[in-house]
Amino acid sequence: MFTFLSLILLAHAISPASSQEKNIFLLAGQSNMSGRGGVTNGTWDGFVPPGCGPNPSVLRLAANLTWVPAAEPLHKDIDVNVTAGVGPGMSFANALLAYDPGLGVVGLVPCAIGGTKISQWVRGSFLYDQLVRRAGAAARGGGKIQAMLWYQGESDTVDEEDAESYKGRLEKFFEDLRSDLQSPSLPIIQVAIASAQGPFIEKVREAQLRLDLANVKCVDAKGLELGRDHLHLTTSAEAQLGGMLAGSFLRTRPRPIKNNAPSSPPPSSTLPSSANPRILPPTTVVAQLIRPTVNESGEQRLEPGVLRGFGALLDRIWAATAAPRVLCDAAHEHVAEACRREHVAEAFVGNHLSEFLELNVF
Ligand SMILES: *[C@@H]1O[C@H](CO)[C@@H](O)[C@H](O)[C@H]1NC(C)=O
Ligand SMILES: *[C@@H]1O[C@H](CO)[C@@H](O)[C@H](O)[C@H]1NC(C)=O
Ligand SMILES: *[C@@H]1O[C@H](CO)[C@@H](O)[C@H](O)[C@H]1NC(C)=O
Ligand SMILES: *[C@@H]1O[C@H](CO)[C@@H](O)[C@H](O)[C@H]1NC(C)=O
Ligand SMILES: *[C@@H]1O[C@H](CO)[C@@H](O)[C@H](O)[C@H]1NC(C)=O
Repeated sequence: MFTFLSLILLAHAISPASSQEKNIFLLAGQSNMSGRGGVTNGTWDGFVPPGCGPNPSVLRLAANLTWVPAAEPLHKDIDVNVTAGVGPGMSFANALLAYDPGLGVVGLVPCAIGGTKISQWVRGSFLYDQLVRRAGAAARGGGKIQAMLWYQGESDTVDEEDAESYKGRLEKFFEDLRSDLQSPSLPIIQVAIASAQGPFIEKVREAQLRLDLANVKCVDAKGLELGRDHLHLTTSAEAQLGGMLAGSFLRTRPRPIKNNAPSSPPPSSTLPSSANPRILPPTTVVAQLIRPTVNESGEQRLEPGVLRGFGALLDRIWAATAAPRVLCDAAHEHVAEACRREHVAEAFVGNHLSEFLELNVF
């Protein structure tokens, strides 16, 4: 009996990741989601930063609808008419697993194609049908579609008509997709574009930042580094973006993240000793961090960077101290409200400790 049980356990332990239930994530949009990090003059430099490396728990749905070990470039057999490079997908998956090692297998479903407008993703189009077909194939192998990561809109900034129609088309696309995937509240995390080819960027950004659909989150690409082509995110910017997307996704789930584990903080010895935050009442923390700056018209305005750092700080405090959860939740609410008031994307960035350290508020 004992041997039999051991065999079952052993069989489970060595069963390949591809036969396990997966946490499925759809990756869609245009070039910056597909990934051009490290591509110059049509050649990818092959550089994969540490956070974007392969992981036995991360799979990719190949173009032929089979699961294969995931590695950059994730879109190499999908966005086939161009040279694909590093995108946000691997760093997203690795950040999720770093935060929640009990998560299991992450299955990435690349579907992004460079240079595409939102009108090309309308229900019934080639891109839309391919997205739905690949999502279905991914789920049939066992697992749940956890979210779609969406980064698109740059190509809709060129014509005023496209920019004007963007909000309506985007909402319709999200609603159709949720309906066709039979997942009415599928979480969608989109990226607000930071600059673009065309003059109508603000119209598109406004649509992205103010989209009024439940379970649609937005992270802001503003401030991320562009490559020498002045067109695409660099490898390191894509890696950073993946972390931001992971932070945003994790915020949609209730804590504690780790399976069955009590929400105990990590031992403080794992933290840099220079960063030993004191517990401050939320009002003091907020006052220190949300330092209003004055814009040209003399009005007070919050810096998105400050809000981003603030989100990271709250996590840091929670991880490093015995600060009551409720304190951090209250402060998070405060940030969310500030974001709404200032029309900046909710800027929570998961575990981005570096930003907190840069803020240097303590
Ligand atoms: C890319 O092509 C341009 C124009 O042909 C050239 O000036 C540049 O040196 C090339 N860059 C690299 C890294 O090969
Ligand atoms: C499907 O594509 C993957 C990745 O290109 C390849 O390794 C695999 O052999 C293919 N499988 C089939 C059945 O064609
Ligand atoms: C690649 O180019 C071919 C020929 O122009 C076109 O038929 C095909 O749809 C393109 N594929 C993608 C994924 O853009
Ligand atoms: C890539 O993303 C950046 C940041 O949002 C944006 O400025 C740029 O226009 C995008 N590039 C393309 C080709 O879409
Ligand atoms: C200054 O900030 C206020 C409040 O956020 C805003 O309404 C106004 O448009 C800003 N003015 C400029 C010139 O940025």
